[in-house]
This record gives sequence, structure tokens and C-alpha cells, in this order.
Amino acid sequence: MKLKTTTFLILVSALLACCNSITKEEKFFYPGQEWLDDNGVHINAHGGGFLFHDNKYFWYGEHKVEGEIGNTAQVGVHLYTSENLYDWKDEGIVLAVNEKDPSSDIYKGCIIERPKVIFNKKTKKFVMWFHLEPVPTGESNNAYGSAKSGIAYSDSPYGPFEYIRSVRPNAGVWPLNVQDFHKKEVSSEVKSIYGGGPEHLPKHVDSLNILGRDFQKGQMARDMTLFVDDNDIAYHIYSSEDNSTLHISQLSEDYLSHSGKYKRFFPSKFNEAPAIMKTSAGKYFIIASGCTGWSPNPARSAVSDHIFGPWKELGNPCTSKDSLTTYYSQSTYILPVQGKKDAFIFMADRWKPDNPIDGRYVWLPIKIVDNKIVRLEWNDKWNLDIFDKN
Ligand code: GAL
Repeated sequence: MKLKTTTFLILVSALLACCNSITKEEKFFYPGQEWLDDNGVHINAHGGGFLFHDNKYFWYGEHKVEGEIGNTAQVGVHLYTSENLYDWKDEGIVLAVNEKDPSSDIYKGCIIERPKVIFNKKTKKFVMWFHLEPVPTGESNNAYGSAKSGIAYSDSPYGPFEYIRSVRPNAGVWPLNVQDFHKKEVSSEVKSIYGGGPEHLPKHVDSLNILGRDFQKGQMARDMTLFVDDNDIAYHIYSSEDNSTLHISQLSEDYLSHSGKYKRFFPSKFNEAPAIMKTSAGKYFIIASGCTGWSPNPARSAVSDHIFGPWKELGNPCTSKDSLTTYYSQSTYILPVQGKKDAFIFMADRWKPDNPIDGRYVWLPIKIVDNKIVRLEWNDKWNLDIFDKN
């Protein structure tokens, strides 16, 4: 009798397991492929930033339109939400461009890139920062000539976000690691702006003293991310000094301005598209790209025990095929997966500058090796179970 009961129980559990695997739909990420939202439309949130709040993931990104004009902001910042990271619900536009007032910083046709949103526990506000290039006025036709950061906020992660202002960070403030020569007069031969790529900068950034050049009016800020540390102190990390040098700048307590405490890193290394993560063992890793416009290039990585350095350069974290083009993509964010220890997703954009709305997303799991380096590997199809196998 006892044997019979045991056999019966084994049979029942085998049957249940079988039914379960039939009914449980397995979900996957398909890097680089079209990704449909709940309306069956390809997700439109490029250069994205992610927030986890009240058991939901929020994906904020650049809303692009068809054709080359889509490289400028015609609509605004688009939000999608998800509970599982595979299925995304379209929540609409949370920061709209201004269509009425040409003097507005965010007038239609400006450039809004890489929006990132963080939650301030003290003020209960959701704070958005983004790279902003207002529509050029007067003589200037340099679409990327302003190199500013835009700031907006909302009482809800669903928006609408209210635009506050734009800034050139840290006007009149020297970084913690300023050197004496930065404080000397800047040669009149130094141009007020260079082209934004290494090929345009005639000398090492410190021979030109770009930091000193921009001291009064504030430092340039283009590609960027935000990071909130375990102690709730937030940082703005951006490509500065004609894209040549990365700045890490602590934000004020309300996250709405810079605190004045900042440092510069990797001078003349032209890091763009910075993304950052922190492991449970307290190591910070940055993954960034080189500076080649919309064309992909080899990524770089760096590690540190403290956000303000010293940072140690680690080189290209990508392995396997297409490692020299970061799998035809450029970093935008590193997302810690909730409920899993040291599970991080590298998130990147595969840009389509001729038809930006068709830009694709490349998400890959990050391998942390001995808590010393990070590695990426191409994967046509994967899911979150991969983090349980490591
Ligand atoms: C890239 C940058 C993008 C965008 C583009 C314009 O290097 O990462 O966000 O600014 O240049 O060419």
C-alpha cells in the first residue's frame, strides 16, 4: 500500500511538472531584433534610461520619427513599463517638446538624447536629466554646439514631467582633481568649440586646457547617465571637454542641480555613452563607447572601488563575434535585475541614423569575472534564467 501511494505521488508530480512546462510560456530577449510593445508596435525609446519603482520597470527613451529628421526631437521622451522586462506597455509621452514657443529650450527640432530618471526619496520627486541641444539660433548652425543638460521633474513616474531648465555643469567650480595649469590663462588660439571627436582635437585636452576654457560658462555635457548610490547620493556622469573627458559630478540633495563636487577622468580618451553599475561587493564598473557618431566602435570598461576613483581602465569588455563594434551597438544603460544578486543587463542601441525610428535594442547579460572585470558575449536569444546558471 505504502509503495502504491509513493508511486501515485510521483506520477502526479510528474504530470503537474509536465503541464506546467506546457502552460508556462518561456520568454526571451532577442538582441537587435524588432521588439513589439503591447500594441504590436516596435518600442520607441532610444538612448534609454531605466527606473525600478513599486515593482515595475520604467523605460524612458528618445521617441524617434521616420527619416533623418528623426535624429532631432519632434515629439519628446517616451515611457514604457514592464513587470518582467520582456513585455512592455506603451505609457505614451512623458516629456513633450514645446510646439508653441520658439524661445523654449525644448522647442520642437531641438535634440533630446539619453533621458535618465531617478527617484528622490526625500522630495518624492522623479527627476529626469537628459542631453539637450536647443535649436541653434543666430549665426550658429551647429546642432551639437550647446552641449547642455536638461532637467525636468514629476510627482509620478508616469509623468507628465515638467521641464525646469538647462545647464552647463559646474560653472565657476573647479573639479576636485584640478591641476595648477588648468587655472592659468587659456591661450587665445584655443577654439571655443571643437568638432566633438578625437580627429578634431589638435592636441591632448590638457595641452589646450579645455577645462579652463569652459570654467566660467560651465563645462560641456553631452552623452550622459545618472547613478544613485546605496547611500542615496546621486551622480551625473557625462562626456565633457569636447567629448574628450568624462566628468562624474555629484548632484545636490534634491537631485535638481550639481553639488559642485566633481572629478574628471580618462582625459583625451573620448568616452561616450557612459553606463555604470555597482556589484554587491562594492565594485563600480563603467562601460562606455568610443566617439564615432552614430557608427559603432569597440566599447571600453573601467573599474573602481570608489565612484570618485581612481578608475582603472580595463579595455573592451566584448568577446565573441562583432566584439569590435559592440555587436553593432552603443551602450546606454546598465540595469540591475531585481531579485537576483549581481545580475546586470548591458543595454545598448543599434542606431539607424537614416531612419531612427527603426533603431534596435541590444540587451546582453553582463558576466562579472572574479569581481575584477566585466565581460559581454553575443547571444541571439536569452532570458533571465542565465543569471541563475552562473
Ligand atoms: C553619438 C552619441 C549619440 C548622438 C550621436 C550623434 O556619439 O552617443 O547619443 O549624440 O553621437 O552623432
